[in-house]
Amino acid sequence: MSRSAHPAGPRHADVLTEGHYSAPPADLNSLDPKVWSSTVTRDKGGELTVGGLEVSRLAEEFGTPAYFLDEADFRSRCRAWADAFGRDADVFYAGKAFLSRAVVRWLHEEGLNLDVCSGTELATALDAGMPAERIAFHGNNKSEAEIRRAVEAGVGRIVLDSFQEIVRVAHIAQELGKVQKAFIRVTVGVEAHTHEFIATAHEDQKFGIALAGGQAAEAVRRALKLDGLELTGIHSHIGSQIFDMAGFEVSARRVVQLLAEVRDEHGVQLPEIDLGGGLGIAYTSEDDPREPHEIAKALTEIVTRECDAAGLRAPRISVEPGRAIVGPTAFTLYEVGTIKPLEGLRTYVSVDGGMSDNIRTALYDAEYSVSLVSRTSDAEPMLVRVVGKHCESGDIVVRDAFLPADLAPGDLIAVPATGAYCRSMASNYNHALRPPVVAVRDGSARVIVRRETEEDLLRLDVG
Ligand code: LLP
Repeated sequence: MSRSAHPAGPRHADVLTEGHYSAPPADLNSLDPKVWSSTVTRDKGGELTVGGLEVSRLAEEFGTPAYFLDEADFRSRCRAWADAFGRDADVFYAGKAFLSRAVVRWLHEEGLNLDVCSGTELATALDAGMPAERIAFHGNNKSEAEIRRAVEAGVGRIVLDSFQEIVRVAHIAQELGKVQKAFIRVTVGVEAHTHEFIATAHEDQKFGIALAGGQAAEAVRRALKLDGLELTGIHSHIGSQIFDMAGFEVSARRVVQLLAEVRDEHGVQLPEIDLGGGLGIAYTSEDDPREPHEIAKALTEIVTRECDAAGLRAPRISVEPGRAIVGPTAFTLYEVGTIKPLEGLRTYVSVDGGMSDNIRTALYDAEYSVSLVSRTSDAEPMLVRVVGKHCESGDIVVRDAFLPADLAPGDLIAVPATGAYCRSMASNYNHALRPPVVAVRDGSARVIVRRETEEDLLRLDVG
């Protein structure tokens, strides 16, 4: 994650020891296209608009906090990924980043596939009309009921995550009189350069079967023997919010090595490999993500090179971007409440949401940017920490940022790049009502996930 210290912080720098912030932008009113979705701009009056709609009108109609998702931007990112990988590869959107019926329909229309990792994500996908054969089912502890449902529905692949699951899926498929297409998820032993909690290819963690010690080869051996399974590929996901392609290179190389070993031992070439998701996005202006076509080119070249060297036919490649598709498409709109200047420290700006709508800052030390969006301002930059309204001092939305010094209660501020893992990880902490997701496109806005109500919460409370 980006982390930069400015050598001579412009305000209160002497007391800032964490070095989490950089210099204030030259113009606090500018909106960096790296972190905002493509239809976001300021109108003549200085208000932020998305899809042609002003944030003050959106706030009036839908309330705050709320996530606003730029549908045109989402669709164009889907197309960019599909076009970059072309016909000989498959792009699976990772539904864990954010899933709703509308999103499933957009994916379907744009020709993408879908990765789900729970029975209920699967149910959402099927309910919204995603053809089962375009769904991949993941998870390190799928229940028998979930497996049964996936096999019955006819999902295109189940990604097997353990020795026990290989047998479990095979038995269930046999019982149902089916042969289930499956991948084996391997851990390739790569230390991805990201937060520990979102790195997944090192061996000491819960996902997958290690290549090390021949375990993955043994898993293939067992899977190939079972009648209920058709083993079609190997899967590797090395982590999330990764910028450096080196980890993907190592991963691709090791997966291809396994394909070669399988060919040598069993005389079969598994036709597919899935290199997972994990590509980073810009949360602040300091992040420099790769474009889908660069990623596609890099991955395809590595796989082709490694296969040529091993005398293998190039397998069909899948990728599973979640964050890189939905992350940049949405922002969270908050209303400013209490403003508390702490002399010699910084100013705490409290908003009407917090860790219940964005847990990423607290959980991963994630960095975000923030802008005043209901108006522009020529006031001096003020160093702020944007915090929520929860009973916890770690309830931080944006750790260090600059907002204009004339910021006032009632102003609207927005945090960009909150499309991924914010609504999907939202909670009811302090009985917060989870915010709506509003899709905006061509001058119209519609709720795709509604705001929770007091009644929703009280209905669950049956004591
Ligand atoms: N494929 C598999 C097997 C995964 O486990 C994941 C993410 C993805 C694809 C999609 O990764 P993405 O392209 O979105 O990075 N809650 C964390 C991220 C957890 C990711 C879990 N798996 C966060 O907010 O950063």
